[in-house]
Amino acid sequence: MPTEARAKTVAFVSARGGTGTTTVATNVGVALAHYSRARTLLLDLNVGRTITDQLLDLPPDSGGTVVDLLPVLGELAGEAPGADVLDQAEVAHLSGLKVLVASRTADAATIPEDAVAQLLAGMAARADVLILDVPSSFDPSAFSALDAADRVVVVATPDVPTLKRTKALAQRLREAKADGAAGVRVALNQANGSKELSLGQIEEFLGEEAWSLLPVALDEARRYHDRRQIPVLDLAGPLGKALYLTALKLHPMKRLAKPK
Ligand SMILES: Nc1ncnc2c1ncn2[C@@H]1O[C@H](COP(=O)(O)OP(=O)(O)OP(=O)(O)O)[C@@H](O)[C@H]1O
Ligand SMILES: [Mg+2]
Repeated sequence: MPTEARAKTVAFVSARGGTGTTTVATNVGVALAHYSRARTLLLDLNVGRTITDQLLDLPPDSGGTVVDLLPVLGELAGEAPGADVLDQAEVAHLSGLKVLVASRTADAATIPEDAVAQLLAGMAARADVLILDVPSSFDPSAFSALDAADRVVVVATPDVPTLKRTKALAQRLREAKADGAAGVRVALNQANGSKELSLGQIEEFLGEEAWSLLPVALDEARRYHDRRQIPVLDLAGPLGKALYLTALKLHPMKRLAKPK
């Protein structure tokens, strides 16, 4: 296997909690795994607040967690973990998405930034696309993940406080990233949910076009919390379709899937 091959790494983050980052990140991962030929991995970095297990209906006691791996990463002294370690830690979702969750308890633990870099190197070597769900805690481990990503998608909702913080975060990330503007995009979730602001006003406020628009879809979003109801992605629903189209912007999909 060629050793230089490295996954396209896409980080999803929000300037404020609760905008839908995890919903968007997990479902874009599911869409890529199911409808593209990309080997897709999802790394959830929300230690103590992991909800990926429930969102994807993963067996609660399968696989390891990032917190479990910390001693192993320490022993590896800077080396990226190989298949022997990652195969045991990752859990496969039925879409084909492989998932590594941060933790399965509410206990707060800190992931050292070096450990994040190590993990990302190990995971990126075995995938085509690596999706990161980055917490809005903005601790060094979150910045380490954002720094390593080829593309950062800032998930925002159309309310003034979130838009203000989103604009500032996008600017900060662009200043920090060597490849500048190309890597950072804003996805507007619940895009049609504002009574006060039109899309034009939102984009004018942000100073950029929204890269992706995801509609309010309460029932659909709720059903994605119980994967027994929607195992993969419901392309008939407005949110499912928008998530598919968001995934398509990141990677080519199989031809057979053509949502209207
Ligand atoms: N497009 C949508 N339409 C309706 N509800 C949505 C939509 N997107 C997300 N939600 C709902 O918003 C809530 C928060 O979503 P989610 O947990 O994905 O946000 P988050 O940004 O990851 O939050 P946190 O900061 O806690 O990590 C959930 O109840 C989810 O179902
Ligand atoms: Mg989240």
